[in-house]
Amino acid sequence: MYSIQATNYTIEIGSLIDSSLALLLGSQFKESKKIILVDENTKQFCLEYLITSYQELAFAEIIELPAGEENKQLEMCVQVWEALTEYQIDRKALIINLGGGVITDMGGLIASLYKRGISFINIPTTLLAMVDASVGGKTGVDLGIFKNQIGLFAFPKAVFIDPGFLNTLDNLQFKNGLAEMLKHGLISDLNHWKKLKTCVLNHENLTDELIQLSVNIKNQIVISDPFEVNERKKLNFGHTIGHAIESFYLEKKTPILHGLAIAAGIQIENYISLQMNFISQIEYDEINQFISQTYPKLNFTSENFDQIISNTKQDKKNIKNQVMMVLLKSIGSAVVDVPVTEEMIRSGLNNYLKG
Ligand SMILES: NC(=O)c1ccc[n+]([C@@H]2O[C@H](COP(=O)([O-])OP(=O)(O)OC[C@H]3O[C@@H](n4cnc5c(N)ncnc54)[C@H](O)[C@@H]3O)[C@@H](O)[C@H]2O)c1
Repeated sequence: MYSIQATNYTIEIGSLIDSSLALLLGSQFKESKKIILVDENTKQFCLEYLITSYQELAFAEIIELPAGEENKQLEMCVQVWEALTEYQIDRKALIINLGGGVITDMGGLIASLYKRGISFINIPTTLLAMVDASVGGKTGVDLGIFKNQIGLFAFPKAVFIDPGFLNTLDNLQFKNGLAEMLKHGLISDLNHWKKLKTCVLNHENLTDELIQLSVNIKNQIVISDPFEVNERKKLNFGHTIGHAIESFYLEKKTPILHGLAIAAGIQIENYISLQMNFISQIEYDEINQFISQTYPKLNFTSENFDQIISNTKQDKKNIKNQVMMVLLKSIGSAVVDVPVTEEMIRSGLNNYLKG
């Protein structure tokens, strides 16, 4: 079992059975009511393994939510709060978020606001949630189409990452999570980026060690700046445009996977990094070539640019309506708080469509 110390909780990576979950359930939360939050897919693919592995969970309440980003909304939280109230869940209870980033983001928010906050743990079941969403303490929901507009920083009691859950994910889901891992390499570790590039042709190259390294990169950044005053903004590389694109597809009611939007965001923000003379042409080409070969080209057109640009105005890093971006200086190094004009974004979007 590989263990990482986070701000005020532990992240364990390895088989759930070997983790300290049994200890946690049998000691600190022995007398607590347990609630397991799942979506329809994690109910089907992940729940049985969890509840049959721990007798402490035999009487847990199961709350199932519909799957998908379009359901990451406050209305869904209200339904869960009503269910918790009906089950007479008190402040000693423990919520177990068993799912992808939608469940861990939303479950963290639900737990943190119910009766002014009850404990929660995350058991991520997608690659994206394992390497990114389940760690770091950002919880939230979208407001209409705007990503993570409502939320708070709240840290789980523990995170248990069992790569065994990845067996029921398809190739697109693999790429979904890989996008955030590639981001980790691009902003802080050239070697990580290089190793991850080999995983696309052979998924077996995606070892537990690479998952550990991504979690470590994110965790170190979060520890240095838990509430995103400066350094943590780096983790948003690819996300200013990525979130704007994700919102665009949410508005069309044809949501796309978060990682696919982020891959497009990485390409466009990489181009802006080149235009602003941060990154060299050689490194720009390396990133651009790899991402465009690995990820499907999204099907928006130049007619959609205004809407996507308008969505960037809601980015949480903006200062006084000015879009501020994280850009790359080189592979493995990023710079935060760079003001970027609409024209720059438009030319990045154009370049993406041409490429
Ligand atoms: N809090 C953070 O720091 C942070 C960081 C990155 C992303 N996010 C958020 O994470 C979300 C994206 O996460 P995601 O990509 O995991 O989305 P998701 O939770 O929607 O999961 C993707 C799909 O996989 C299914 N699924 C989950 N586990 C499965 C399994 N083991 N087998 C088969 N199917 C399974 C889900 O039901 C869903 O249909 C976005 O809302 C994004 O904003 C948050």
